[in-house]
Amino acid sequence: MRTIVINSQKGGSGKTTLCAHLAVEAERAGDGPVFLIDTDPQGTLSTWHEHRAAELPQRAEVPLANLAQGIEALRARKATYCFIDTAPTRTDENADVFRLADLVLVPIRPSPSDLWAAAATVGLLKQANIPFLFVLTQAKSNASITAQAAAALSHHGPIAETFISDRVHYAAAMTDGRTALELAPKGPAAIETATLWKHIKACLHANMEKTSTAGKKRHG
Ligand SMILES: Nc1ncnc2c1ncn2[C@@H]1O[C@H](COP(=O)(O)OP(=O)(O)OP(=O)(O)O)[C@@H](O)[C@H]1O
Ligand SMILES: [Mg+2]
Repeated sequence: MRTIVINSQKGGSGKTTLCAHLAVEAERAGDGPVFLIDTDPQGTLSTWHEHRAAELPQRAEVPLANLAQGIEALRARKATYCFIDTAPTRTDENADVFRLADLVLVPIRPSPSDLWAAAATVGLLKQANIPFLFVLTQAKSNASITAQAAAALSHHGPIAETFISDRVHYAAAMTDGRTALELAPKGPAAIETATLWKHIKACLHANMEKTSTAGKKRHG
């Protein structure tokens, strides 16, 4: 099982939206069983899940203090992916969550204040040596600021090739527990989410190879 944590210190950067969409896409792509864990006291992901008619992805109710055991329990249930949504700005708690991650996704809106805030998140991740990937979210189409943001972020760490655009479907679909992919399965949001999920899987795979090569070298 792979554990994917979604975090950025900045509120409203698109963490919960990204988490829900990727989890639904992972199930759609046949990569399940996928589980969701909501560690944000705001409970937005849990509320979305309660409104959801579809059974998948499943949500596991795990208190923050028992997260490691919760993840082990999902592994025992043969889960393939566990997506963990986090609260912004809860630095100490989030540092503990990061340690359980195979990959941390850092959604960033292409705006100066979001880019400045990214430094805090990345500082924590680099300190703990956790693999991470920036994902540009709510990107306005054809805006030069998106390209500038991508260029600026690339100095701090890897950035997903696929951006999540600013599309009303992402927000609207979640009102009744769905995602943009379910609202319009062949629409642009569905296509970009599917492409992003493929990129994330490739990134997880590459990290695994790196870890096993490093392990082999260490052990001769
Ligand atoms: N790609 C998108 N296009 C349009 N609207 C979006 C997109 N992503 C998120 N939103 C909207 O932006 C707002 C913030 O998104 P979301 O709740 O996912 O952010 P968050 O980082 O989880 O927030 P918080 O820090 O409060 O947990 C919501 O109203 C959501 O519907
Ligand atoms: Mg949220």
